[in-house]
Amino acid sequence: MTKKRKSSEEQLDTTKILSHLGICPGQTILDAGCGDGYMAKKFSTLVGNSGKIYALDYRRELINTLHEEVIDTNIETLVGDITTTTKLEPCSIDLVYLSTVFHIFSPAQVVMFEEEMQRVLRPNAQLAIVNVIKEETPCGPPLKMRSSPEELRAKISLTPTKLVEVNMYFYMQIFQKK
Ligand SMILES: C[S@@+](CC[C@H](N)C(=O)[O-])C[C@H]1O[C@@H](n2cnc3c(N)ncnc32)[C@H](O)[C@@H]1O
Repeated sequence: MTKKRKSSEEQLDTTKILSHLGICPGQTILDAGCGDGYMAKKFSTLVGNSGKIYALDYRRELINTLHEEVIDTNIETLVGDITTTTKLEPCSIDLVYLSTVFHIFSPAQVVMFEEEMQRVLRPNAQLAIVNVIKEETPCGPPLKMRSSPEELRAKISLTPTKLVEVNMYFYMQIFQKK
């Protein structure tokens, strides 16, 4: 790893990402591995008062900071590991957003992550995974930790629906649960 960043905010074209997610008022969204929660806050505005955002990360200090920032909003913060069974209700989520987290998972964690997606996503709900491309880039994890879109699709058994080039160094693969 050449350089560590806490948040992908400066690196991603979030307008483009949001334009492909088709978020509607009233939806329930999970920002898994939310970091500082900057996307959870954008989702919060889009789903409005009738919607709900869960911002989950296993780093308690990040969640504690975010929690202070989002009191009295529709964002609920959760300390948790998305590769285990979380506190979320079964079939409760319309969209899971996982940005620059997937490369961290071991093969065993990928299996458990998928199980948790199958449990929490509603039928026809979406999983959106943003990954750094599997090519040399100015910063990011070692190449061996990265997945190309083809490799990602082979690791996740949900139905792939859309592949988006987010900007020069990132892609977003969207999946749908049957
Ligand atoms: C590179 S940061 C990305 C943060 C944010 N998603 C973004 O795009 O800025 C990776 C985040 O995933 C979290 N994380 C890694 N593995 C996790 C897991 N199994 N469960 C929950 N959070 C996890 C880390 O604590 C960290 O905040």
